[in-house]
Amino acid sequence: MVEVDQVIHRRLASEVALVNQISHYIVNAGGKRLRPMLLVLIARALGCTNPQRFELAAIVEFIHTATLLHDDVVDESDLRRGRKTSNAMFGNAPSILVGDFLYSRAFQMMVSVQRMRVMELLAEATNVIAEGEVLQLMNMHDPDITVDDYLLVVEYKTARLFEATARLAAIVSDAPQDIEDACGAYARALGTAFQLIDDLLDYDGSTEELGKTVGDDLREGKPTFPVLVAMSRGTPEQREMIRNAIFNGEVERMHDIVEVVRATGALDATREAAHVQAERAKAALAKLPESEFRDALLQLAFDSINRHA
Ligand code: IPE
Ligand code: IPE
Ligand code: MG
Ligand code: MG
Repeated sequence: MVEVDQVIHRRLASEVALVNQISHYIVNAGGKRLRPMLLVLIARALGCTNPQRFELAAIVEFIHTATLLHDDVVDESDLRRGRKTSNAMFGNAPSILVGDFLYSRAFQMMVSVQRMRVMELLAEATNVIAEGEVLQLMNMHDPDITVDDYLLVVEYKTARLFEATARLAAIVSDAPQDIEDACGAYARALGTAFQLIDDLLDYDGSTEELGKTVGDDLREGKPTFPVLVAMSRGTPEQREMIRNAIFNGEVERMHDIVEVVRATGALDATREAAHVQAERAKAALAKLPESEFRDALLQLAFDSINRHA
């Protein structure tokens, strides 16, 4: 991970002062570096010695960071990684443009790897994230979306990049196709679990620990798994209260809604859904050779469910 961070810093360089300022602002705020870690761990689990893995890990983190810069503008969020978001600090326009810088820098780096399959995977993942974010936009303020609609958004906006990351690890390790597929299945399930818990923490987490403002999803009128379950299980009155909140993006009744989400067991149901994904991830890992790295990957899947940040 130290090597990954060196690549990240080397590749952030720009001659334009504001590009440097904003890109360093968000990158230096930290973040979990989960996707690069996933790539590096899978590569180690597959016995990889190819140094290109560090470049690929940095590419994936750049794409992820670009989506965050754009996402915080779209979501009008003002806290990320325990700091003011870039949009709150520098404004929407610079954030969007530096997001574009990071995307296109990632493409430059991709080309330097000189493998068509790498470009294909990353081009696809990046494109699908954009579709996921737009799909989600279309679901805003709509209390009638289904769990399947929600899961499609999760797959597109989050799980596919996890999957692509894992496939890249297998490719750079020259692993056979069935191993690449197993890695992809593992990471897709991990990514789904990860997003489910992200959506749970928006109702049950602390702003302090998360470094993001809790309650943003409801404020935006974003129907996520916890409220979809709460609506399906609640009394007609409870259902109506949540429907109105999604429809209007109400925050006044936030406290009552969190209570309903809790009382209907929707938080436990979200954790349970994430657990099912973690078990799926575990099953996929069984195809990889035994190693301490595989153990760490297994740990990662279950830790992602119990996380608070
Ligand atoms: C945030 O991702 C976006 C989601 C997919 C929920 P992370 O939680 O991995 O963000 P950082 O990089 O650690 O800040
Ligand atoms: C994050 O999505 C952006 C992508 C996954 C592309 P969210 O809006 O759900 O996540 P946070 O809560 O802002 O990190
Ligand atoms: Mg957001
Ligand atoms: Mg969003």
